[in-house]
Amino acid sequence: MKFFIDTAEIEEIRALAPSGLVDGVTTNPSLIAKSGRDFMEVIAEICEIVDGPVSAEVTATNSAQMIDEGRKLAKIADNVTIKLPLTFDGLVACRTLVDEGHTTNLTLCFSANQALLAAKAGATFISPFIGRLDDMGIDGMELIEEIRAIYDNYGFETQILAASIRTVNHVKESAIAGADVATLPPSTLYALAKHPLTDKGLEAFLKDWEKTGQSIL
Ligand code: G3P
Repeated sequence: MKFFIDTAEIEEIRALAPSGLVDGVTTNPSLIAKSGRDFMEVIAEICEIVDGPVSAEVTATNSAQMIDEGRKLAKIADNVTIKLPLTFDGLVACRTLVDEGHTTNLTLCFSANQALLAAKAGATFISPFIGRLDDMGIDGMELIEEIRAIYDNYGFETQILAASIRTVNHVKESAIAGADVATLPPSTLYALAKHPLTDKGLEAFLKDWEKTGQSIL
């Protein structure tokens, strides 16, 4: 499973990059607004830090303008993935941009039928929003399972990018359900490494080591 990080904060990306765990980055207009930075500049900087796909989202709502915006975003760097909303216009724009050789990420996916359309439109990634479904009392993970089954039935190559991840359990469950990628807020990526028994065990080991009076270096 690949991990993308869901942030437009350069320092967070810089801090995580040396871990080798960052396979890509996703942004959206809300994350850009939160960063307070210029959109094009931020995407260019992220693309310099991370080699993998960096999703940059269009803000037009009709397909012709989405295509123009997508082409402009793709010029920022070779690893830009054009993020498009999962509307009918977004699907039309997706087909054109994919046929031109661009990679795309269809976002705001809340149903298996939307995901089926995204695959037929040639999307590189489909982003089902788990947390926002959970917020409504609908099991977001079922959506990942349904999409996995549909894509496997027909051999679609569109990658399932589990998004709107809120908990470490979302990561585990997405992995079990067969999502290809999970995009995580940085805090969730750090949280995956944490376990109270690891901390407790390490504390005991270090106490015992101190008693030996030895040092490795
Ligand atoms: O990048 C899209 C996504 O992950 C949004 O998450 O927490 O705003 O629902 P959230």
